Amino acid sequence: MKTIGIRLKERFIMKTLSLLTAGLIFTALLTVSNITFSQELKTIKLLPPQTEIGKPLMQVLKARNSLREFSSENLPLQILSDMLWAAWGINRMDSGKRTAPSMGNRQTIDVYVATADGLYLYDEKQNILKGIHSKDIRAVIGRQSFVKEAPVNLIFVADYTRMGERPDEQKSFLSAADTGYISQNVYLYCASEGLATVVFHSIDRPALEKEMGLRPDQKITLAQSVGYLKK
Ligand SMILES: Cc1cc2nc3c(=O)[nH]c(=O)nc-3n(C[C@H](O)[C@H](O)[C@H](O)COP(=O)(O)O)c2cc1C
Repeated sequence: MKTIGIRLKERFIMKTLSLLTAGLIFTALLTVSNITFSQELKTIKLLPPQTEIGKPLMQVLKARNSLREFSSENLPLQILSDMLWAAWGINRMDSGKRTAPSMGNRQTIDVYVATADGLYLYDEKQNILKGIHSKDIRAVIGRQSFVKEAPVNLIFVADYTRMGERPDEQKSFLSAADTGYISQNVYLYCASEGLATVVFHSIDRPALEKEMGLRPDQKITLAQSVGYLKK
């Protein structure tokens, strides 16, 4: 009788354990499918860049400036695609090299794009904006009020794991330099196409890093608002 009792108990425990495991697997699958779904929902396929357009360089340099009054009008997909390509796209397909220089061609900077719809990561290889999450974080990015008005805010993030073995001080200097070239490309594109833009460092970095879900070795360098000038 005792043995039967123990066996029944064992069976009960085994059943409970397998039910628990099944429940855990089901929850995990649900979570994964939710993430995939929200990423699929958010991913934007960018258009090929129009490399034949634009004003002559000297006119663009004459026009380049910082503007801080933005209309809430969204940028058309072609403008957004061209601006991102000008900023940090691939301009030599054979080598994968980019429109801006980078220390040792390490391509340390990632460009995140924050809009009213959510946060994206620019993937230059696939020419897409990969969805990160669907929260509007523009109000958290900058301390100045124009930031949340601009339809597009670029957030430049240095990935220190791509910078080799060197002191953090050097990584900080080099990633700031790398960001400068990308930001200037955005300035020049905006000057050519009549868009408003301004780069800024006035950022609550800990708050923004949290909203973006960055790792400790990913550092925000600067951010830049882009849009049409408010009329
Ligand atoms: C590294 C850097 C950081 C900047 N940070 C800010 C900022 O936090 N807020 C802002 O409104 N402008 C910022 N600016 C923009 C400058 O204020 C602007 O470039 C300067 O006033 C000159 O104006 P211009 O760009 O029209 O020539 C920054 C510029 C640079 C290069």
